Amino acid sequence: MIRVAVAGAAGRMGETVCAAVDGAEDMELVGRADPLLGTTLQEVLPGAEVVVDFTRPDTALGNALACVRARVHVVIGTTGFDPAPLRQARPADGHARANVLIAPNFAIGAVLMMRFAAEAARHMQKAEIVELHHDGKLDAPSGTAARTAELMAEAAGGPPPPIHSVRLPGLVAHQEVILGDVGQTLTIRHDTISRESFMPGVLLAVRRVGTLQQSPVVGLENLLFDPTADA
Ligand SMILES: NC(=O)c1ccc[n+]([C@@H]2O[C@H](COP(=O)([O-])OP(=O)(O)OC[C@H]3O[C@@H](n4cnc5c(N)ncnc54)[C@H](O)[C@@H]3O)[C@@H](O)[C@H]2O)c1
Repeated sequence: MIRVAVAGAAGRMGETVCAAVDGAEDMELVGRADPLLGTTLQEVLPGAEVVVDFTRPDTALGNALACVRARVHVVIGTTGFDPAPLRQARPADGHARANVLIAPNFAIGAVLMMRFAAEAARHMQKAEIVELHHDGKLDAPSGTAARTAELMAEAAGGPPPPIHSVRLPGLVAHQEVILGDVGQTLTIRHDTISRESFMPGVLLAVRRVGTLQQSPVVGLENLLFDPTADA
């Protein structure tokens, strides 16, 4: 059994993750940290092997550093923060490592969208990204759009495509990558209809974070595909 604690447990994603962990036969939900529940991360860390963080852009880094120092692996879904300090993060006792896996999007369809967009960027002149989210989202552009732009720039060797952000009630999480060339366009679109779409990816990350060969790892694609294979 993997002992899992969830940070942001009272939030939209955190509640869904708690239910998914509760329903997984190989996992035990050992803590729900959230100011709204009156429970801090520090209180749940001692009993956990893995923390899943779906909090806020201004708390995710501090939470992750606290996990690594306590030698607890951490899976981060929170977007909109700079993870650079995690490269230097070490456990407080300096011995065994705690791993960090960051994924801007845990939905398999979104991971495929990013992969296909990177491939298409090699062959078409220009592209723009339109990302659309519910109006409770704190960061813009979305972590998925920023990661897509980064992967496309890496693949095509040019500047990252511009990103347009839409925030409206009624939306969950959606993205269109529109590529243009002479006399034609190609649109690659992904729609998240419900937050359950993220759960298989989150559970996979919980199962695998302890065995990563390096840390931090950014992107669920690193668990799904051979990174040396062509997109
Ligand atoms: N990676 C993905 O696949 C994916 C998918 C959806 C959302 N997200 C990201 O997940 C994050 C959370 O989204 P949401 O819609 O659930 O937000 P939300 O506002 O519904 O939930 C955030 C929760 O975190 C709690 N919180 C704040 N500070 C905390 C702390 N220090 N410790 C513990 N909990 C704390 C809040 O009280 C709140 O309950 C956002 O950054 C969002 O962009 C990522």
